[in-house]
Amino acid sequence: MSAKKTVVTSALPYANGPIHLGHLVEYIQTDIFVRARKLQGEDVIYCCADDTHGTPIEINAARQGISPQELIEKYFHEHRRDFADFEIHFDSFYSTNSPENKEFSDLIFSRLRENGDIFTKDVELTYCEHCLRFLPDRYVRGECPSCGALDQYGDNCEKCKFTYAPTDLVNPRCVICGHPPGRKTSLHYFFKLGNYTDRLRCWLVDNPHLQEEIRNYILRWIDEGLRDWDISRDAPYFGFPIQGETDKFYYVWLDAPIGYISSTRHYCTRLGQRWEDYWLEETGRIIHFIGKDIIYFHFLFWPAMLMGAGFNLPERLLVHGFLNVNGEKMSKSRGTYITARDYLEELNPAYLRYYYAANLSPKMADIDLNLDDFKNRVNGELIGNFANFANRSLTFLAKNFDGRIGDVSEPELQGEVLRRADKVREAYNRADFRAAIREIMEISDIGNRFFQEKAPWALIKTDPEAAHRVVSFTVSLVRLLGILLKPALPRFCNRLERQMDLPHQDFSHLSFDLSGHTISDPSPLLPRIDQIGLIRKDPFASVDLRVARIETAESHPKADKLVVMQIELGTEKRQLIAGIRHAYTDEELTGRHIVVVANLKPAKLRGLESQGMLLAASSDTALGLLTTDAVPGTPVRIAGIEYDGTPEISIDDFMKVSLSARDGRAWYGQSALQTEDGREIEVHRRVEGGIK
Ligand code: 2FM
Ligand code: ZN
Repeated sequence: MSAKKTVVTSALPYANGPIHLGHLVEYIQTDIFVRARKLQGEDVIYCCADDTHGTPIEINAARQGISPQELIEKYFHEHRRDFADFEIHFDSFYSTNSPENKEFSDLIFSRLRENGDIFTKDVELTYCEHCLRFLPDRYVRGECPSCGALDQYGDNCEKCKFTYAPTDLVNPRCVICGHPPGRKTSLHYFFKLGNYTDRLRCWLVDNPHLQEEIRNYILRWIDEGLRDWDISRDAPYFGFPIQGETDKFYYVWLDAPIGYISSTRHYCTRLGQRWEDYWLEETGRIIHFIGKDIIYFHFLFWPAMLMGAGFNLPERLLVHGFLNVNGEKMSKSRGTYITARDYLEELNPAYLRYYYAANLSPKMADIDLNLDDFKNRVNGELIGNFANFANRSLTFLAKNFDGRIGDVSEPELQGEVLRRADKVREAYNRADFRAAIREIMEISDIGNRFFQEKAPWALIKTDPEAAHRVVSFTVSLVRLLGILLKPALPRFCNRLERQMDLPHQDFSHLSFDLSGHTISDPSPLLPRIDQIGLIRKDPFASVDLRVARIETAESHPKADKLVVMQIELGTEKRQLIAGIRHAYTDEELTGRHIVVVANLKPAKLRGLESQGMLLAASSDTALGLLTTDAVPGTPVRIAGIEYDGTPEISIDDFMKVSLSARDGRAWYGQSALQTEDGREIEVHRRVEGGIK
């Protein structure tokens, strides 16, 4: 055990969307690590915060018609509730949009400036004259300058992996408004990361706690030469204005990690402690858990900022891989994008904590949530091996011996179990939870076998005292296992403690010393997983939207309000009927390229069949078709949700998909509809409202 004061952090989640099972890998991992340390009596706190600044938050708030403050407030509450429900205990969960964070950002910035690490220069950037803003990489799409793939982001091509600047894109478009962006010059602040080359190299080489694979990776970046880092952004931006500026802000990645310090300070203020003990004094120790996508920030920029400003450096950075679900990246169209809330509506968080723990090691490997394996392991190991063993032992003791634990006399087995318990402790400390869980299950196996072989239910008839010794051993073992499992399954283990009528247990209670203690009433600790219905496809996935060309249009012979159209859908022709007479003449319709639901069950309208449905936006006073210049037959989608091939949907199925029109474009949630080849869908007459 060490006398250090340790602050452990997880990466700060963006206050821009819900927590999902991918995020939870890291928070559960960190939570287990911290709990294991606390159970050993170490002085450790777990600090985190919402990451609240940046362009996406500002734009999403505007889209929803609320202020960024309102948006981050909403996610702050959601995030805190989700974490609490997953038994993730932060000593401090704060916000980067806090006075402390502004103060520390200014402090660190000015110290870097005093060091001569900051300079300004003009840069030419992508600028949308229509939105009156500079566009970050992710807000420009166009054709890849290398392979010509359509609809690629401004930083790299998903098809050929070529990297480039947004200004290199062919036919670029602003993702917000669809207009082709121009360029504009702006004065930006830069951090001379290169000033820290030698110090960073020493820190990486001298630090015995870093993962080897990552150290080498970063050293290679350093050898290639460290480039200056652009740390400012122009208005409109949601963030802290740079000292002395009104229209320039710190880039979100500057103030985000500073949130680790602010969150610690927030905790210390509340408890009358000193944040300096963690971040400035030699007593302090800093441990970060992060995902492999943000190592550049945490192994280069962040330590350089801390060095420059005179703060302590992280002692350890534990990097984990990504989460896959059933072997593939989480995806909305496959229905494997599962939020924390979706999960909690169906399953106990203990299952997921167990499964993640059983799969997490200190390596950077990805982890796979295979739902069959998940169910089998939870049912087989946690419930079948441990929970049932615990319940059988406790029940036998309660029924036959009034719940009173007697003497145990299995010196050899006791010795073995205690040696293994020590291995579990060590495994937790090196964040090798997979090894810890494996060891715990092996100990539980020992207990099960012992109970089975000694058969106390038979023994009690001939030698009740011997039977009492047997069950006293297994019940003591159950307590011990309950302590060892506690970092991974806190609530589950608290339940066990209550059934055993024990006060709070920690690693100092890892012994067989329970003789004379009486347990209370046992009951099953956790039900088995029955069925898993977590995979729920987004209803948009089953809708086949396609571009169609109206060849002819005429009035319905039996209904004035209806128009009968013959349309071309690529390779087929169809008849469509729609109630749009009040808004369009036949001439206005003929030749137009529209969007239709191509797999809607055909319906008869006043005697004529409509084979599909066209999409139009309507307000109280106006109606506007969805139009495009793409060729007939082209699929219409949003990014991330492919059509799953459902041959036919009912009108009720379609009604579950709520589309809307805003800014002349058609939206599903926060994503704009577009043709598969990256062309815009426009709302004719810029009508705003629901789309049907
Ligand atoms: O990648 C992300 O999700 C960031 N919000 C992580 C920030 S971690 C820290 F540096 F603030
Ligand atoms: Zn724009």
